[in-house]
Amino acid sequence: MKNILVTGGAGFIGSNFVCYMLDKYPDYNLYVYDKLTYAGNLDNLRSVQDNERYKFLLGDIVDREMVNQVIDDNQIDTIVNFAAESHVDRSILSADAFIQTDIVGTHVLLDAARDHNVSRIHQVSTDEVYGSILEGLFKEGDPFEPNSPYAASKAGAELLVRAYNETYDLNTVVTRGSNTFGPYQYPEKIAPLFITNAIENKALPLYGDGLQVRDWLHVTDHCSGIDVVLHKGVSGGVYNLGGGNERTNIEVTEMILQYAGKPLDLIAPVNDRPGHDRRYALDSSLLMSLGWKPAKTFEESLEDTVKWYQNNDWWWKPIKDGEFKEYYEQQYGDRLNSS
Ligand code: NAD
Ligand code: DAU
Repeated sequence: MKNILVTGGAGFIGSNFVCYMLDKYPDYNLYVYDKLTYAGNLDNLRSVQDNERYKFLLGDIVDREMVNQVIDDNQIDTIVNFAAESHVDRSILSADAFIQTDIVGTHVLLDAARDHNVSRIHQVSTDEVYGSILEGLFKEGDPFEPNSPYAASKAGAELLVRAYNETYDLNTVVTRGSNTFGPYQYPEKIAPLFITNAIENKALPLYGDGLQVRDWLHVTDHCSGIDVVLHKGVSGGVYNLGGGNERTNIEVTEMILQYAGKPLDLIAPVNDRPGHDRRYALDSSLLMSLGWKPAKTFEESLEDTVKWYQNNDWWWKPIKDGEFKEYYEQQYGDRLNSS
């Protein structure tokens, strides 16, 4: 492994992964291929922009010609695919871009990997492909029951990955990550939205009864899990990647307010998300058997994350004061006015 193509590497987890890999592996070259949608941001990669082993390439994973060109030009031997439309609420507004990028784009990457004898392609997937589980933990062999257009698009992508491994013996691995939080996360997701709203003394729009459960994973732990599977996973392998930190949304919201030093009356219960999954929970013992474990407790990681947003408003304020406003109004305007 030497020349790694990181598709979607200008987004939240992808950019953290690029920094993590450049730091850990002095022999690797990291090529970020990203369309720079609203969620892609070169500021996420500012700390490595002068690194000679990093290169940014603007492009769409759906663009077959360009993907092939990039793999040829840079002698790519490994692909890690983060590129996706990633927000459930946006997929409920319109699923078109999700089908294109998450399914069609993954298909293009699989064909390109096959045509160029790429030695491994890693698909970054999600625990949402399983749907919701009220008791117990999902294991890798459990069936797919996706409930949102986003989750269905990620499940579709994964089925193609499986088929290319079975049919063409393409060397594939998949990680199914749980809810991830940390620096450089676009402020549409609950953690950065609630942290930055709290900093700005704005309401925190909590959906429904707030008793939905998510399994929280710090982004550095997500990156180290991908690293372990990329290097040690078996071809065709699928690995759950969960932090083991199940919390209700209310619990997370109260912790954020406590760490930010803000009052609980900022919490504003609003209409629920349609088709809202009640609980996600993963059994990550297969990945742990390869030597992976989270580095810090959830409490430490969340407190660090609140501090990061307090200290880095240069990063999130222009987003929230700019293009994000229109989406926020569309998603939350009526909900907050009627709460
Ligand atoms: P993100 O929305 O922050 O970033 C997505 C990136 O993909 C952006 O840089 C965007 O510009 C790029 N992109 C979108 N469409 C593209 C296209 N057609 N061609 C090239 N680039 C394109 O997402 P994220 O939260 O960093 O998630 C990364 C991956 O991890 C996704 O595949 C997501 O499904 C998965 N995942 C996310 C979480 C989470 O909690 N955030 C958890 C598990 C799995
Ligand atoms: O589980 C992994 C998935 O986690 C990833 O695959 C997705 O890319 C990622 O977006 C995330 O999906 P969720 O829907 O779980 O994340 P989100 O941050 O949107 O919501 C987390 C929980 O918080 C969910 O129960 C809905 C609730 N919520 C969310 C928002 C944005 C609120 O109560 N209010 C909000 O404003």
